[in-house]
Amino acid sequence: MNITSLYKASLLSLCISAGSSVTAQPLKVLSIDSKAAGVAVQPTMWGVFFEDINLGADGGLYAEMIKNRSFEFDTPFMGWSEMKELRGKGAYLVHNTGSIERKANRHYVRLEATESSGYGIVNEGFRGLGLKKDMQYNFSVKARQVGVSKVGLRVELLDDTGQLLGSAEIQPAGNEWTEYKATLSSKATVMKARVQVRLTGPGIVDLDMLSLFPQDTWKQRPGGLRADMVQLLADMKPGFLRFPGGCIVEGRTLDERFQWKKTIGKPEDRELIINRWNVEFKHRLTPDYFQSFGLGFFEYFQLAEDIGAEALPILNCGMACQYNTGEVVPMDQLDPYIQDALDLIEFANGPADSPWGRRRAEMGHPAPFNMKMLGVGNENWGPQYIERVKAFTKVLKERYPEIKLVNSGGTDPDGAKFEFLNGALRVMDADIIDEHYYRPPAWFFANAGRYDNYKRGNTKVFAGEYAAQSKTIASSENRNTWYCALSEAAFMTGLERNADVVTMASYAPLFAHADGWQWTPDMIWVNNLKAYGTPNYQVQKLFSLNKGTRTVPLLSDGRPLEGQDSLYASAVLDERKKVLIMKLVNGGGVSQRVSLQVKGTRAGTRYTQTVLSAAPEALNSFDNPEQVSPVSQELRATGPAMNVTLKPYSFNVISVPI
Ligand code: AHR
Repeated sequence: MNITSLYKASLLSLCISAGSSVTAQPLKVLSIDSKAAGVAVQPTMWGVFFEDINLGADGGLYAEMIKNRSFEFDTPFMGWSEMKELRGKGAYLVHNTGSIERKANRHYVRLEATESSGYGIVNEGFRGLGLKKDMQYNFSVKARQVGVSKVGLRVELLDDTGQLLGSAEIQPAGNEWTEYKATLSSKATVMKARVQVRLTGPGIVDLDMLSLFPQDTWKQRPGGLRADMVQLLADMKPGFLRFPGGCIVEGRTLDERFQWKKTIGKPEDRELIINRWNVEFKHRLTPDYFQSFGLGFFEYFQLAEDIGAEALPILNCGMACQYNTGEVVPMDQLDPYIQDALDLIEFANGPADSPWGRRRAEMGHPAPFNMKMLGVGNENWGPQYIERVKAFTKVLKERYPEIKLVNSGGTDPDGAKFEFLNGALRVMDADIIDEHYYRPPAWFFANAGRYDNYKRGNTKVFAGEYAAQSKTIASSENRNTWYCALSEAAFMTGLERNADVVTMASYAPLFAHADGWQWTPDMIWVNNLKAYGTPNYQVQKLFSLNKGTRTVPLLSDGRPLEGQDSLYASAVLDERKKVLIMKLVNGGGVSQRVSLQVKGTRAGTRYTQTVLSAAPEALNSFDNPEQVSPVSQELRATGPAMNVTLKPYSFNVISVPI
């Protein structure tokens, strides 16, 4: 019998028992003492992990619609082609200036039309361009006429059948590079449109930095982020935003590592590099995946601020990904890496007249971002990591003792590599260790008590990347099933119960484009027009919106509930809102009844039960984005306890005003 039919069978048996007025299970007594001393829940407890994987940035959150806008990809004309109907009426030629000063933007394209019909090129966008009916789009281009040419330009939006949806005219004047802008609107909503730029007659024009953004970006910022994607994050009220990853921090080689200084300033001056996920998985090759850094460190800080999250940047520690080349920088050449960290702190927090603070101010944010945490390395391990992290720590702690440093706990939550790191970092009295868990659902259920007897002390744990894998790690068959999400909820009750050990947690990865992903499962799926939260997103959001300020013991027979009868639970008090919040997971296929014994409850006490429940294999999708979504009910106690039904395979949040 598969899990779905088990679920149906258990529902059937429930219906039968309800009909014969026999309760499915005896009432399980849970005692909750909201006055007993608990531990503080940090405001950072539940956050989000962003990485430019699965077209997370270019083609995703960064709303630019033109791929390879400045012809800087390794194959400079990738993403572009000639307009079919004007083939033979002219030519294109990519020029490489080889410029040292303008290393970030060496290429441009020359278009020459030889006939009155004109000539043009087409951009395919990121798996097409998603256009919305009547939406306005900002187009911009750098252009110059060549020689005596005086030809005009026409920008056109087309659907997948070639029908014209919108157009605009531009008249470049003179032989100097000048930026031109135009606004277009679309006559229809189309998932996979294209954009073309044509010369309206004979002539020669040079073009560079061709860009198209919708006007409905997040906060309507020109050149900004996709509003629907940011909204899903904002709705979670995350405690922190970790960026830019993930393995992208390390790079396949040190040359391809993430260097924050190359991601700030004018977009055309940000030096594009290959995205390491371009070639990572042979079964999911993504040859057109590059990092334009239009979404750079300034924008990450700004995003964190917008959604009320603490910024948590992670920097390269002088080591490339150890699954790839494992290159390290020699210890006597580590200084520039440490200097990058010092400069980043000044960029984020320094006064507007400090050298790096000025760069931030010039980008439009004179006030400091007030960064409080910084990560040194991602998934790095071994003595070479400890050696490097010690060097970083010494310098950073001397200059900025108030900044908490996040250190790598490696790739796995157990095993020799983890034990070595965990031991060495604790001897160093590290602030925070970043543990990662990509494991099957059974592991998450079984580890709900992982932190109950964990070493307590100054060193805290950041559950920095986790996701239940329905098949196995890195399998393209992994799915964001409800059962996976439920197992994460069970595990998260253990994190919450031990909020003095685990002070931060984030699901990973965050975003995936349906037509351009490399890694699954992911928390939020998008296509060119829509975005939806998976069941895992719904779990994360419920925890985050109900994080409370202090833990409260919730006991069954004097013990925490961490798997007895497939039940898992934790409780917190929100001292500001004066609400007691209990989280209960029923990981089994049989409905259960629990009696929540909270002092002060009497007949008529009002409480709210919010439930996420579904068949184990249930998924959300573009067509059915709310298949697994919370349902809330106002209830009243009938006596001195709240007797609550926990549906099969359910996550329940129960709130009582105190
Ligand atoms: O989340 C995907 C990848 O998983 C991250 O880049 C890396 O840190 C981990 O191995």
